[in-house]
Amino acid sequence: MRRYSFVGTGSRAQMYLAALLGPYADLGRPVAFCDTNEVRMAYYDRIAGAPLPHYFPDAYDEMLKQSDVVFVTSRDDTHADYVSRALLAGVDVVVEKPMTIDLAGVRQIHDALQAGTPELTVTFNYRYSPRNALMRQLIADGEIGEVTSVTFEWCLDTVHGADYFRRWHRDKAASGGLLVHKATHHFDLVNWWLGDRPEVVFARGGLRFYGPDNARRRGLGTRPARGLIDGDPFSLDLASDEKLRELYRDGEHLDGYIRDRDVFSDGITIEDNLNVVVGYRGGASMSYTLHAHCPWEGYRVAINGTAGRIELDVVERPHVSPAGASSAIGAATAASKVAVALAEPEAEPAEVLDPSALSESESAVADAGHRQRGSRLLLQRHWEPAVEVPIPEGAGGHGGGDAMLLHDVFRGPSGDRLSRHAGFADGAASVLVGVAGNESLRTGTAVYLHELGLSLP
Ligand SMILES: NC(=O)c1ccc[n+]([C@@H]2O[C@H](COP(=O)([O-])OP(=O)(O)OC[C@H]3O[C@@H](n4cnc5c(N)ncnc54)[C@H](O)[C@@H]3O)[C@@H](O)[C@H]2O)c1
Repeated sequence: MRRYSFVGTGSRAQMYLAALLGPYADLGRPVAFCDTNEVRMAYYDRIAGAPLPHYFPDAYDEMLKQSDVVFVTSRDDTHADYVSRALLAGVDVVVEKPMTIDLAGVRQIHDALQAGTPELTVTFNYRYSPRNALMRQLIADGEIGEVTSVTFEWCLDTVHGADYFRRWHRDKAASGGLLVHKATHHFDLVNWWLGDRPEVVFARGGLRFYGPDNARRRGLGTRPARGLIDGDPFSLDLASDEKLRELYRDGEHLDGYIRDRDVFSDGITIEDNLNVVVGYRGGASMSYTLHAHCPWEGYRVAINGTAGRIELDVVERPHVSPAGASSAIGAATAASKVAVALAEPEAEPAEVLDPSALSESESAVADAGHRQRGSRLLLQRHWEPAVEVPIPEGAGGHGGGDAMLLHDVFRGPSGDRLSRHAGFADGAASVLVGVAGNESLRTGTAVYLHELGLSLP
């Protein structure tokens, strides 16, 4: 039985703990929690069904002595330190995306890996989503020949997108901004779909919707710094959900982690609109867009190749109710309580804000109007009409992808012809596109990854 510990007992840790207590209980047991906040660690004691030892960050190395594997699900800027210390202590690591937020973090993890033999897994769950896996399979099978270019647009809506402007994600020093925190998923997908590595990045973007200047410009008037404003679609009611209340509101007096800051308040240092061009070593290029205040949520990808083109269109939430975040949480929590078993771990509030965490039958907002929730993949080879390729849909979060990811995490990847399991090289290749993008935003010029002084494996 392997001993699993957890650093960062916020929302995301729950998926891994539930899996360990449920379908993977034969493989190991949870042994300890580490966090800055006692209330959040106590929350996880209740889920574990018994109090486990709690460690504050200064005692992390002590916790490692009791562990064979550590789940790193803490704030993004803490990943590099926790990952590298675990590796140096001979403890296997499963780290949430992004692997780290900057160049120094990539170097730190790289050096720690040289020193020992433990394993590092980076959990890129989007790879396991059936529609994204199908894309990889079609390209690998040569259906569109050699890939020449990609267009990729990711739309975050005014529920999920807004949530990045309420708490630590709004601070670039804590999250790396959306080019690292969020786009790491998307840059990884493209690296993996193409089987290629990025070479050069040019980015433009800014804070054009959230934040006080934009609020003033649009005449939004004075707003409280946090909390619920009656009838306001941007405010979040922490009291509307048991988990939000217990994890965040009840613990905020301990460390000042405020979960419901107004998205138009001061202190936001990240962008909400981003356009990026990426050039790949193999010659392909990508035009990528991320915006965080769309009226619907989903993504569109088109991949052009020498033999044809694939288009993937995904609508995860067709529209946002005028009641905003709090109503999305209420509806989705009710649905997930009925539908989700341990094998498909319970969708947590932070993720309920994220519609991709729900299966299609759990849609938080009923379809209405001309945009329907769903995904469609079209393959069109030269000289042939387009065909729709059916997307297999699994049960649970991310189209069944979360359940497959957990299988790999606990039982190990075996014989996966799509090579979904990711480690250091993939974690670094994805993060570095975001890091180079941030550098490009700062300097206004294109940034070659080799100029960063680190060669990608
Ligand atoms: N793959 C996905 O789809 C997905 C979804 C959500 C979150 N995530 C990732 O999971 C991680 C956690 O996100 P979350 O939504 O649970 O955030 P969260 O804010 O709910 O949890 C973060 C936890 O880290 C703790 N923390 C902060 N500083 C710390 C420190 N120095 N030492 C130890 N603990 C510290 C906080 O107290 C908090 O409990 C992030 O890296 C995020 O990017 C991934």
